[in-house]
Amino acid sequence: MQETDQLHLERVVFYGRSLAEYKLFFNLDLPGLKGKSVLDCPSGAASFTAEASPLGIHVTAVDPFFENPVEKLRAIGEADIDHVMEEVEKVRQAYTSTYFDSVAQMRSTRRRSLELFCADFTGGKAEGRYVSALLPRLPFADGQFDLVLSGHFLFIYDDRFDYAFHLAAIRELARVSSDEVRLFPPAGMNRKPYPQLDQLRRELERDGIASEVIRSNFEFVQGWNQILVLHSRSRPQA
Ligand SMILES: C[S@@+](CC[C@H](N)C(=O)[O-])C[C@H]1O[C@@H](n2cnc3c(N)ncnc32)[C@H](O)[C@@H]1O
Repeated sequence: MQETDQLHLERVVFYGRSLAEYKLFFNLDLPGLKGKSVLDCPSGAASFTAEASPLGIHVTAVDPFFENPVEKLRAIGEADIDHVMEEVEKVRQAYTSTYFDSVAQMRSTRRRSLELFCADFTGGKAEGRYVSALLPRLPFADGQFDLVLSGHFLFIYDDRFDYAFHLAAIRELARVSSDEVRLFPPAGMNRKPYPQLDQLRRELERDGIASEVIRSNFEFVQGWNQILVLHSRSRPQA
């Protein structure tokens, strides 16, 4: 039987949030990112890249779905918004009411992100801003990005991806960052902290990757209120 306060998704959804939400849940200083290179992995149907690029932030978005043409991505994105909204209706008590007034408002924000993403995708892919790749292996050089962001994929799908996958994926995200990696949320669909978070952090520490858990400026889903921040090994020495 379905637990009443846990979102149950039947697949890893091709779904995405807006620049305004990224700013909040990753505690981003957008003016400070101007001119910096940022990796968003996986980005799904988020409009972060589409909205941040005109601000002079050099964002590369990665998702395995990016091998598809935009018409197919739009169709998958629309179906996944419908699927998520149906499931959100069943667990509305798990959401705070501070960001969206209603599920309808949440749906229209998701649709706007999907539209912005679709409008940017084909040209952006030709420019190399949208890259099809699959964790735990990324086609980028060591330390290529100033900041790496990974939201709403790792930890929340821990029923489908095991600990070894998480460790390998996070090592890979750290490898391509010259400074920080931010992961949101370090918690599962059940809204509880990832059970092996301490073990994961100890293993990363042994690789020379320091980490901390900080408070996020955003708590839309109750319990998803922290960011795991990694300080990459390839960070330039002061
Ligand atoms: C919910 S979306 C990401 C949303 C976005 N980061 C945000 O916060 O709005 C999750 C994405 O993970 C992608 N995905 C699934 N397996 C993956 C893998 N092994 N490596 C990278 N991305 C993967 C899916 O294609 C999907 O688009």
